[in-house]
Amino acid sequence: RKPVTTAKLRKMKEDGTPISVMTAYDYPTAMLAEEAGIDVILVGDSLGNVVLGYDSTVPVTLDDMIYHSRAVTRAVRTSFVVTDLPFNTYHGSIDVSLRNAGRIMQEGLAKAVKMEGGAEIAPTVEALVQAGIPVMAHLGLTPQSIHQIGGYKIQGKTAAQAQKLLDDAKALEQAGAFSIVLELVTDQVAAHLTSKLSIPTIGIGAGKDCDGQVLVFHDALGYGSDIHPKRFVKTYGNVGDMIRSGLRQYVDDVKQRSFPGPEHSFRMDDEVAESLYG
Ligand code: KIV
Ligand code: NA
Repeated sequence: RKPVTTAKLRKMKEDGTPISVMTAYDYPTAMLAEEAGIDVILVGDSLGNVVLGYDSTVPVTLDDMIYHSRAVTRAVRTSFVVTDLPFNTYHGSIDVSLRNAGRIMQEGLAKAVKMEGGAEIAPTVEALVQAGIPVMAHLGLTPQSIHQIGGYKIQGKTAAQAQKLLDDAKALEQAGAFSIVLELVTDQVAAHLTSKLSIPTIGIGAGKDCDGQVLVFHDALGYGSDIHPKRFVKTYGNVGDMIRSGLRQYVDDVKQRSFPGPEHSFRMDDEVAESLYG
């Protein structure tokens, strides 16, 4: 497979070819995602929740994002890797935003950054794009603002919200974003935005009419996250159960001395052993 590019993603929208996006935060997961043919791997700041154990993405740092991006990009040859700019790293001066996004590209080796927000961040998006940094935008429920929003609420339920989402999406497209994530947006609004934009929309809890879909790896594979999956998540495996039973079996084996067996061990010649130990 040829490397996925922003041009390829736009072409996929034009051709009506759905775009598969999955998060990854480490080398083995990224390797498996690449192997499975995932188009875009997102090093999401959701790693704060699912890997680092925080209760929101707010505590995640730029250094956290770079560290995980390096692990992911070492495994990837063809998938397009996008890394989230975390909380409070792109709302100061344009210079600071450029420096932070630049570190994601140069140290994390990601191909693009993702930023949450609407028209208010369009000037920053434009500056990054001018500097050669592709930007994926993120509208709807924006988890970095969770303390301001006050909860994981569905966005785009009223006419006013629908109009604001459209205005924001248009401003971000105009600023040069190559794609927009729509999180927890009603189906009808997501479908409408998708039809009004020339750049691909990637949905999560935003219905089937987006140009692509994204899920958080740990949610999708049942790995240590919610026992009760969120409504918008489909689970494609139960990695948590496999790990749980494997670990229990290991503990049993060690306690019963049934591991290691002869096949896992190393012996010196019997004669040498005899002469040494009788
Ligand atoms: O951090 C993340 O995983 C994300 C996706 C849910 C879009 O931003
Ligand atoms: Na994110």
